Amino acid sequence: MTEDRGAGHHVIVTENGPYQVEGSIEIRTPAGEVVSANEGAFLCRCGQSSNKPFCDGTHAKVGFEGTVSADHGPIAERRDAYEGRGITIYDDRSVCAHAGECTNGLPSVWKLDAEPWIDAGGAGADQIAEVIPRCPSGALAYALEGARPGETVEAKLSPAIMASKDGPYHVRGGIEVRSSDGSAYEPRNRQTLCRCGGSKNKPFCDGTHYQIGFKDG
Ligand code: FES
Repeated sequence: MTEDRGAGHHVIVTENGPYQVEGSIEIRTPAGEVVSANEGAFLCRCGQSSNKPFCDGTHAKVGFEGTVSADHGPIAERRDAYEGRGITIYDDRSVCAHAGECTNGLPSVWKLDAEPWIDAGGAGADQIAEVIPRCPSGALAYALEGARPGETVEAKLSPAIMASKDGPYHVRGGIEVRSSDGSAYEPRNRQTLCRCGGSKNKPFCDGTHYQIGFKDG
């Protein structure tokens, strides 16, 4: 991954308010329509704006409590490694959005009711490498045999934010996410930010939108 790809592009998680987007970042609706690629935007974080994906000030009226609780530490200290045939799967459970791309895409590797839940030898490296980039949260990553320590394979993605249908913002391209106190999360190529207001791992999605039946409309 090119670490400076998202340089100058930030998402600031404002205190009990919206995401403040800085830099020229493409923003897309669930239908794929580009609604803004200009400097700066405020995106709804409480889930109750009438002008989604943009903030309309509703968070203040409803008393949105948006305290950030996700770990700011290095990804390398959180993730688990699973060795397969010529590939290592990395899994950072803390940021999983439960999109199900892994368990649906390759159930011989990602197992819903098994412990451990990942069998990295359950498919070939090529198949695993094809599925992992579909993981929108970036919880899953991989390295191929011979990689330097900590090095993972990532596609080159332009900085972009897509409001997914009834789900989180898919944030692509190494955009830096910062808390309102200025502390930054390690930039990742694939991230999912909560837009239903209900995550218990704010600012990241933790799948709560499924449980509360969040809808765009
Ligand atoms: S959008 Fe997934 S938990 Fe809020």
